[in-house]
Amino acid sequence: MSDSLKHSPRSVDIYVSHLKDTDGGITWFCCADRDVRLFEKQYPLSDGMTYNSYVIDDEKLVVVDTVDHAVAASWREALDGFLAGKGGRKPDYLIVQHLEPDHSAAVEDFMRSYPGCKLVCSIKAAAMLGQFARGIDAGRVVAVKEGEGLDIGSRKLRFIMAPMVHWPEVMVTYDPLDKILFSADAFGTFGISQASGISSGMKDSSCLAEEWADEARRYYINICGKYGAQVQSLLKKGGVLDLRYLCPLHGPVIAPDSFNPFGLYDKWSRYEPEFPMKTLILAASLHGNTVEAADRLAEMIAEHGISAEVLDLAEADASEAVSQAFACGSTVFMSSTYDASLVPSMREILSRLKSKNWQNRLAAVVENGSWAPIAGKLVLKELEGMKNIEVVSPLVTIRTRLDDVSENGLRGLACNLVTAVRSRYAVDPACES
Ligand SMILES: Cc1cc2nc3c(=O)[nH]c(=O)nc-3n(C[C@H](O)[C@H](O)[C@H](O)COP(=O)(O)O)c2cc1C
Ligand SMILES: [Fe+2]
Ligand SMILES: [Fe+2]
Repeated sequence: MSDSLKHSPRSVDIYVSHLKDTDGGITWFCCADRDVRLFEKQYPLSDGMTYNSYVIDDEKLVVVDTVDHAVAASWREALDGFLAGKGGRKPDYLIVQHLEPDHSAAVEDFMRSYPGCKLVCSIKAAAMLGQFARGIDAGRVVAVKEGEGLDIGSRKLRFIMAPMVHWPEVMVTYDPLDKILFSADAFGTFGISQASGISSGMKDSSCLAEEWADEARRYYINICGKYGAQVQSLLKKGGVLDLRYLCPLHGPVIAPDSFNPFGLYDKWSRYEPEFPMKTLILAASLHGNTVEAADRLAEMIAEHGISAEVLDLAEADASEAVSQAFACGSTVFMSSTYDASLVPSMREILSRLKSKNWQNRLAAVVENGSWAPIAGKLVLKELEGMKNIEVVSPLVTIRTRLDDVSENGLRGLACNLVTAVRSRYAVDPACES
């Protein structure tokens, strides 16, 4: 990949790369917003966010998706410069795979600038388009359905509908000549470093496997986690394609030959734990005693040879806690009682897990209370509303600080939990960690 780098005063970098083995036919515009701290105003970002747009240079010139408003001006400048370098070619088609503003913010302006350009989108997107981009004449919109193609010269692009990955109007686009799936939000990730590192030639996607998974999991679970069935349906359609590159709208381009993320997506969308033998302990405390008890429980579980990690909900980001709860085979919910209810951070996590369809796991519950502990009962009620959550007994009650009785209770719970983990996930003891 070759690349050029462009800086603008508001911490936007545009990395322009030609994808290898596409004869310069496919160019990736990786637009990095280094200022944004929260994606969708809620998910913390350690080093910003990227928004990708692609150009397919064939007899027809095609732009695949626009970008977020934060990077739109820089993207247009880079794109217009790129087109000027091609003898002033004008785009024939803008493919809009997803209407969410992080990809459609520049559509209206783009279509106004290029009056000869047609907009290609799903039928559902055509019906919603006016909410996101105004003033586009219906005669310029080509609404496509499942499997429909678009001849652009040596390539015949094929459109694959991907409803609810992540919105109902989403489609993805397959280029059979270069074996590229433009995958919209699917296979995207938070952050900038991986994408910019790859595009500037520091590393290739074979280095991605380990680094990609953590943030890609947090992105997937929190953005698309609710829609496992719909993701499964896209994986079935995408899994039969011959693929050299996956080109998502966020994060790095992925070469499945060196790193194939389909397996992880399959696991995540089936709601199967990625680390069945790992226990997550979520602790919501007011004065710290519940976190201390959580650390003690983690030690007890570890004594049985099962790894356990404590997340103090006062410190951990909720999207990370949700992501870890999806990754682990079992989760222990430990909450103080707060005004005859749950500590708000625990209530928040339970509500997020419910909304993301968290299911098929082992759970256990520990409550704390100084005069009328009720947190455990309330957690259990929430877990009852979720699908296939097997609760391991006993519900352990701590009265303010651990004492001999509650410590014994935790010991018994650790033992039962480990037994349940082993029997549910039935892993060869030699493989346990
Ligand atoms: C504002 C506030 C409200 C509380 N409400 C209750 C309550 O309704 N019932 C109860 O048993 N304990 C209540 N407690 C006591 C907590 O549950 C107590 O902090 C806990 O037992 C000790 O664990 P911790 O140090 O992890 O918070 C409350 C504490 C605070 C600070
Ligand atoms: Fe989206
Ligand atoms: Fe997106």
